[in-house]
Amino acid sequence: MTTADLDDVLIAEAELHPFPWTRGNFADSLAAGHGAFVAQEDDAMVAYAVTSQVMDEAHLLNISVIADRQRAGRGRRFMQHLLAAAKAQGGRRMFLEVRSSNQPAYRLYQRSGFIEIGRRKAYYPAHQGREDAIVMARDL
Ligand SMILES: CC(C)(COP(=O)(O)OP(=O)(O)OC[C@H]1O[C@@H](n2cnc3c(N)ncnc32)[C@H](O)[C@@H]1OP(=O)(O)O)[C@@H](O)C(=O)NCCC(=O)NCCS
Repeated sequence: MTTADLDDVLIAEAELHPFPWTRGNFADSLAAGHGAFVAQEDDAMVAYAVTSQVMDEAHLLNISVIADRQRAGRGRRFMQHLLAAAKAQGGRRMFLEVRSSNQPAYRLYQRSGFIEIGRRKAYYPAHQGREDAIVMARDL
């Protein structure tokens, strides 16, 4: 992902997430040197993701597949790429947080080898009140 991708990313982000990242959030990640990826098919973006890594600990911050391309294995394939990229950077373990209501993401993570290691109560803002985060991790 580069700044040239951000217009496409922001359109998808607004559609896919109840509390979308802002342009500034993505720009900060790019400036910080986070892992930032887009997947393209026929020159069109179909998925994007952001990871961060400190020493051997990687974090998945965002993974999204555009709505009309979901449920066809792209999320799983993209995840394999992110896991391999983190490992190639010296990562030994990847962590993530997921909204407790986000069943598609939870399933993707389970199918990709992540296991639940904890919960953060009322971690996310929700449209009514707040929502728990499920913390998951897997070895690389
Ligand atoms: C989560 C997301 C990335 C999955 O992408 P995808 O390309 O649809 O995922 P895949 O087709 O590779 O499916 C991966 C697994 O998740 C399951 N899954 C995907 N969508 C699902 C849904 N709507 N309901 C239940 N399970 C679902 C699939 O069944 C699959 O497991 P299986 O093939 O073993 O049955 C996609 O739904 C998305 O972008 N959601 C909006 C953004 C988001 O919430 N991102 C995560 C938090 S940052």
